Amino acid sequence: MIETCKDDPEGIVAGAHVLDNPIWHSLNGAHQSLALTDGRAARYPADVSPFMTLPADATGAEWEALGRLAGPDPVLIMDAPDGAPPSWTLVRRVPLYQMVADEPALGRRKEEEPAFPIEPLHSADTGAMRELAAATKPGPFEARTAQLGVFLGARDGGKLIAMAGERMRPDGWTEISAVCTHPDYRGRGLARALTERMIDGILARGERPFLHVLTANDNAVRLYKAMGFTIRRTAANSLYRPA
Ligand SMILES: CC(C)(COP(=O)(O)OP(=O)(O)OC[C@H]1O[C@@H](n2cnc3c(N)ncnc32)[C@H](O)[C@@H]1OP(=O)(O)O)[C@@H](O)C(=O)NCCC(=O)NCCS
Repeated sequence: MIETCKDDPEGIVAGAHVLDNPIWHSLNGAHQSLALTDGRAARYPADVSPFMTLPADATGAEWEALGRLAGPDPVLIMDAPDGAPPSWTLVRRVPLYQMVADEPALGRRKEEEPAFPIEPLHSADTGAMRELAAATKPGPFEARTAQLGVFLGARDGGKLIAMAGERMRPDGWTEISAVCTHPDYRGRGLARALTERMIDGILARGERPFLHVLTANDNAVRLYKAMGFTIRRTAANSLYRPA
């Protein structure tokens, strides 16, 4: 497993890097208005995102608070701190790469315009976005996921064939997420073009792009590396079912 750390002083809050707990820093930052909290335990509304979070030094009582916040939902948490209640079941743990890029590394652009023009997506497109996500499985995509940030897409004759969007927003950074292309339209540079457009928007705000990708997703890892992203660290999504 690759474990590299390309930290720089940017993004350090209270001695830790915001990318070491990006969901917690999003829900305590740019996404505070969406956050459901119980003390330091926090989650998104279920129709926005299934992610929940705790600080790295969470206590047993804070794990219990997260269980109360979860209600009937399973607890999906990235980089779960130690101390999950022993009565909870760890349903699965999926390894991810967290990838980052700085501006010079992102300079290697493809010259060609994509065959299908890229345009912003709006709330009226939610049904088509959910359909594309269901067909391609880029990660969780709920009824209000598109409220997390900017989403862009490409269409063929009105049909949404590819998209990319913004998800976590720890201070100074924006995560690129939901990158997906319908199977009939792959290998034509659509994901690359959409990701490049997302990057441009993030850099224009003075932020840096990052993303998460399953370590097993070879196609996507290769694409992101070709675009100038490097692996900052290996993370993991854990799914628990509280007792
Ligand atoms: C990963 C995924 C988004 C890639 O989408 P895509 O639109 O096919 O990607 P691109 O066309 O931009 O790039 C893919 C490949 O085509 C190549 N390519 C780019 N432009 C091309 C063109 N004009 N003609 C032919 N090939 C091209 C790329 O160089 C890349 O080559 P590689 O296989 O050697 O890496 C797509 O496979 C997908 O939707 N997967 C399921 C969802 C998913 O896993 N998303 C990622 C979540 S992190």
